[in-house]
Amino acid sequence: MNYVPLGKSGLKVSEVCLGTMTFGNEADKEVSCKIMNYAYDIGINFFDTAHNYNKGETEKIVGEWIGKKRKDIILASKVFFPSQQGINNEGLSKKNIIQSVEESLRRLKTEYLDILYLHHWDEYTSIEYSLEAVHTLIMQGKVLYMGISNFSAWQIMKAIAVAREYHYTPVVCIQPMYSLIKRQVEVEILPLAKQENLAVVPYNILGAGMLTGKYLKGEKGRLNENKMYQQRYSNPMYEEITRKFVQYAEEKGYSPAVLAASWVKSNPTVTSILLGARTLEQFKEVIQCVDLKLSMEQWKEISELSYQPPLPTDREPLDVYRLRGW
Ligand SMILES: NC(=O)c1ccc[n+]([C@@H]2O[C@H](COP(=O)([O-])OP(=O)(O)OC[C@H]3O[C@@H](n4cnc5c(N)ncnc54)[C@H](OP(=O)(O)O)[C@@H]3O)[C@@H](O)[C@H]2O)c1
Repeated sequence: MNYVPLGKSGLKVSEVCLGTMTFGNEADKEVSCKIMNYAYDIGINFFDTAHNYNKGETEKIVGEWIGKKRKDIILASKVFFPSQQGINNEGLSKKNIIQSVEESLRRLKTEYLDILYLHHWDEYTSIEYSLEAVHTLIMQGKVLYMGISNFSAWQIMKAIAVAREYHYTPVVCIQPMYSLIKRQVEVEILPLAKQENLAVVPYNILGAGMLTGKYLKGEKGRLNENKMYQQRYSNPMYEEITRKFVQYAEEKGYSPAVLAASWVKSNPTVTSILLGARTLEQFKEVIQCVDLKLSMEQWKEISELSYQPPLPTDREPLDVYRLRGW
């Protein structure tokens, strides 16, 4: 396993981060522990969970498993979505951030989170309050670093600027959605991450399983079972890209799951990729991406099977002008 710096945090994390979202639902406790044991044994030291996953069950499973391994693991959780009903149990208010983290710590049986992600932008709360709450937790030693997930570029930049203005702990990493079929992140977010030295830990890199090609063969999975995911991946263009990609992978003799993960991992702005699975067999397959290094030519060929998202302005980066000649 390769280890890479997590932005400017000083932490070194495995190039794969284990996602736990299926634990306590699609994967029962026994399967979840098998996946965690396997991941830990092959050197994965970066684990990702969230306050709301399976109403808190996921954090409990991770907490019961972790034990003495805690000191070796970079443990990330998230705050925003509720794990139980309650008018103030959601969002990025100071109250919800403090209460959610306290509860996550109890479930995870740990005194601190290495990383706390703000899981979603909250348009009803001033980001100043949210960052103050995270800073308080950091001052109390309950959280070490702050990350951001699912913010747009201006929202990330606003959080960075506010943290600077108030001398709060800076944002060190972001967790955006990114795959061959969802490439919005390339437009503004990846250039921003590069400019601001943010680590990038993408999720949904298999398009929630779509890019494995199994739905083309009539097999079942999350996209049949989960309405939110069904809707997220319902655009017919995604199926068209998947068809072209799976055909390409099969012609070249690759597992589509491994190739899709390698494509995201090959982006130089990506730090560590999130892998999630419902069975150990799925995980053992997709983890083979750590041994697949794509050449620039392969990376370009695969990129061309998809669409290039339009630039945010009609002007290109300086290097492009230089290459072309002014
Ligand atoms: N920040 C956020 O908002 C956010 C959102 C989502 C996830 N995450 C994090 O990212 C992690 C990974 O996300 P994800 O699970 O959505 O990503 P993904 O890698 O796009 O999808 C993983 C799913 O693909 C299917 N799969 C995986 N390997 C396979 C294989 N070899 N063959 C066939 N199917 C396979 C499984 O689903 P089925 O068996 O159901 O098909 C598995 O649960 C999560 O665990 C979580 O920690 C974060």
